[in-house]
Amino acid sequence: MENERTNNVRTFPVAQESIPLALNAGVVANIPTTVVGTAQIECANALTLYEQWDAPTVIISDGAYGLSLFPGDPATSDELAEWYAPHIAAWSRYALPETSLWFWGTEVGWASVHPVLKLHGWEYRALHVWDKGIGHIAGNVNSKTIRGFPVVTEVCAQYVRDVRMTNAEGQAVPMKQWLREEWQRAGLPLSKTNDACGVKNAATRKYFTQCHLWYFPPTEMMERLVAYANEHGRADGRPYFSLDGVQPVTGAQWTRMRSKWNHMHGITNVWSEPAVRGAERLKDEQAKAAHANQKSLRLIERIITASSDAGDVVWEPFGGLCPAAVASLRTGRRCFSAESIETFYNRASVRLAKEETLFAETASR
Ligand SMILES: C[S@@+](CC[C@H](N)C(=O)[O-])C[C@H]1O[C@@H](n2cnc3c(N)ncnc32)[C@H](O)[C@@H]1O
Repeated sequence: MENERTNNVRTFPVAQESIPLALNAGVVANIPTTVVGTAQIECANALTLYEQWDAPTVIISDGAYGLSLFPGDPATSDELAEWYAPHIAAWSRYALPETSLWFWGTEVGWASVHPVLKLHGWEYRALHVWDKGIGHIAGNVNSKTIRGFPVVTEVCAQYVRDVRMTNAEGQAVPMKQWLREEWQRAGLPLSKTNDACGVKNAATRKYFTQCHLWYFPPTEMMERLVAYANEHGRADGRPYFSLDGVQPVTGAQWTRMRSKWNHMHGITNVWSEPAVRGAERLKDEQAKAAHANQKSLRLIERIITASSDAGDVVWEPFGGLCPAAVASLRTGRRCFSAESIETFYNRASVRLAKEETLFAETASR
């Protein structure tokens, strides 16, 4: 990809400065594609599409469960690591330092895939439990045959990028190590980081410690550190704290060097939300659930809003009925979804078109 950095930061694609709202519809010929507003769904294997999609701020993965839930879903979780591996490799290739990954599955499914995610530079943040409540099993439990407590949950694990920076020796090092090495390379004593930030000892204690209490320097503090090092540091080593070896990092660039987070008060990692029912549950011609795995729009909207801003890109590689496309439309994000099975793609496509009608009606009132 053109927008990959090749200098200081390990080659992550860089977010484009001005991203057009029009998506890359029809980039790959002969792929059925639905575009509604800023969301697009393609009927194809996601592996063939990643390269065409703009770099994501959010990836929502809701693929195989190891439960034979849809054609291609393995029967057990034993095969899940292999099933996900090529997708995870691609996500890592196209992710930005600001990208969050939300990985849906069962507990054992997620546990099986976690080592692959870690291997590809995804850093575990938290596990969220979707508790569908007792209503989910009402009337469906045979106490004579069941051999455990009924399961009414799915899980959604949150990952961010383990961002590595390239140091003066060309090695990829953790960000906290890079910060300290750059300061030392400037020939400045560590205590001067406090002067640079205008604090008593918080800079050495928070941003330059190498222990687990390390904090990512906020943009304003980073701007001060960068300015100080480049003004007072040894002249022959400049620029200090540079991503490209030419210019010192700017505040705007630094802000995008970690995952986004828009905090919502009152929400924990336990999401009590009934299984999808009523008008939200899409049905087939026999009035049966159109997809066994339909996710709650409220939950999908929640994770998108928490980890991105309006205009950012969301990837939904295993679309099903494409809730992330719908949620992105509702929240002003740009979404790229894939669904390989035509029946599901068609339903998702009609669903997205209905969203457009809803919007048009609301706008004309
Ligand atoms: C667990 S379901 C997703 C359900 C969806 N989150 C919803 O709420 O409707 C996974 C979907 O991914 C699709 N799928 C599996 N592998 C795929 C691939 N490589 N590319 C595109 N879609 C894929 C399956 O056909 C299935 O519909």
